[in-house]
Amino acid sequence: MSVLQFDNITKTFPGVKALNGVSFEARPGQVMGLLGENGAGKSTLLKILGGQYRPDGGRLLLDGRERHFGSAGDAIRAGVTIIHQELQYVAELTVAENVLLGRLPTRFSTRFGLVDHQAARKLVAEQLANIGVDLDPAARLSELSIAQRQMVEICKAVMQDARVIAFDEPTSSLSHRETEILFRLVRRLRAEGRTLIYISHRLEELYELCDACTIFRDGRKIVTHEVMAEVPRERLIADMVGRELQDIYDYRARQQGPVRLEARGLHSARLPEPLSFAMRGGEMLGFFGLVGAGRSELMRLLYGADARRGGEVLLDGQPVSSAGPSAAIAAGIVLCPEDRKEQGILAHSSVAENINISCRRHGLAGGVFLRHRQEARRADDFIRKLRIKTPSREQETRLLSGGNQQKVILARWLAEPGLKVLILDEPTRGIDVGAKNEIYRIIHDVAATGCCVIVISSELPEVLGIADRLIVMRDGRISGELAREQASETAALALALPDGNPGAAALH
Ligand SMILES: Nc1ncnc2c1ncn2[C@@H]1O[C@H](COP(=O)(O)OP(=O)(O)OP(=O)(O)O)[C@@H](O)[C@H]1O
Ligand SMILES: [Mg+2]
Repeated sequence: MSVLQFDNITKTFPGVKALNGVSFEARPGQVMGLLGENGAGKSTLLKILGGQYRPDGGRLLLDGRERHFGSAGDAIRAGVTIIHQELQYVAELTVAENVLLGRLPTRFSTRFGLVDHQAARKLVAEQLANIGVDLDPAARLSELSIAQRQMVEICKAVMQDARVIAFDEPTSSLSHRETEILFRLVRRLRAEGRTLIYISHRLEELYELCDACTIFRDGRKIVTHEVMAEVPRERLIADMVGRELQDIYDYRARQQGPVRLEARGLHSARLPEPLSFAMRGGEMLGFFGLVGAGRSELMRLLYGADARRGGEVLLDGQPVSSAGPSAAIAAGIVLCPEDRKEQGILAHSSVAENINISCRRHGLAGGVFLRHRQEARRADDFIRKLRIKTPSREQETRLLSGGNQQKVILARWLAEPGLKVLILDEPTRGIDVGAKNEIYRIIHDVAATGCCVIVISSELPEVLGIADRLIVMRDGRISGELAREQASETAALALALPDGNPGAAALH
């Protein structure tokens, strides 16, 4: 098994020094966590390790031997596999075909090139059983959940006999249960003596899984802690963001106005039970529940994205048409969806264009030059406020790091003119702790102008930290409501978990 060593690695992109003299090592049987703000250089390092990028300088060593990977294939042959932030697979092929991609067993001889599907499935079924994953090798990847697709990638890594396996934010789209399964698998790979690298923005998760950790900031390595468990949370955060963060939630009590938004008896095919709630202007309302509790579905009903079977939405006493999102937006209701990346980032457009889309749609007055100036100012404003790491507002959005792309999409919704109700579905997923703090500050400011702000989150400390009031959902119903003063983790979990199963352990 392999000791992995980065020695003085440097990588520059036009206008960005992504990595600046990075050195550290990871050992067999160790899970090494990589921490750092969005754009710190974590994914770039993994892409170098995986042969996707070549470093401008420095050395990569495996067991003391210097390696030069010209392609992902080179890395794989040397025993290195990366499970990337954006998974790479062929959706229309089966599990078995994906795992064995490029080396499917042939029945007679490679000359005929006939693939022996039966043999392939058997081989992969054995390996899946071996790593303790319950998956049908004949299933198509397009039918699987993200978690299952990751399992396929991991199975592939094991079959390729990877001795170094690196994970780039693998849990950002997983449920608690799926995360559990992934962790079990990672621990097993560790016990087998493989060298593991693990990137995440979730500190709890890093503490749970990682033995050691390395912190990055602005392309530099700040420190490696050999025993992560001994390092207090505040220390890690301060090293990541380069300043002390006292209270990241930045909660402020606000003056609340009269009832502004009312949902009365909303229901749909997917949410048969009628649901009602009301909120005041200036209020921040948190929605908590397990994945699948119906929070996103309720918001989609409110926003007109899904068809209502009945019920109504009132804004300032006036009914809001259920004709669809454009009617909701016209009334001032905006939903920033959970899956921001799939729902609408223009990857090849500039950061400024992405931020200004909603304002353009409204066709704000003014000549072309004036408009251009306003757009530039608005873009720069958000780049500064959300600390979006980009060489300029003209940069193509796809060249930004994962978390910075998220911030661009968020900025777009925050820039919506005539905003009255802002609904944010998992607004800080994949976003670093420093930027979370900025986002909380901004949405507190939005609420302070008299808007209703709804935040859906699966991170309990987050909703408890920022909301004035918490609504908890379970199985498509509202199971309870907690005022800020009564809200605690135990109280919220008791409402979120199924009856007769109060084991909070199921969550962690
Ligand atoms: N192909 C590229 N072209 C130009 N710039 C790039 C490219 N890839 C990465 N960058 C820049 O390099 C820097 C480091 O990016 P990287 O993706 O490594 O960050 P990260 O630490 O993984 O962040 P996140 O937590 O948001 O995923 C960022 O400023 C990013 O915009
Ligand atoms: Mg990244």
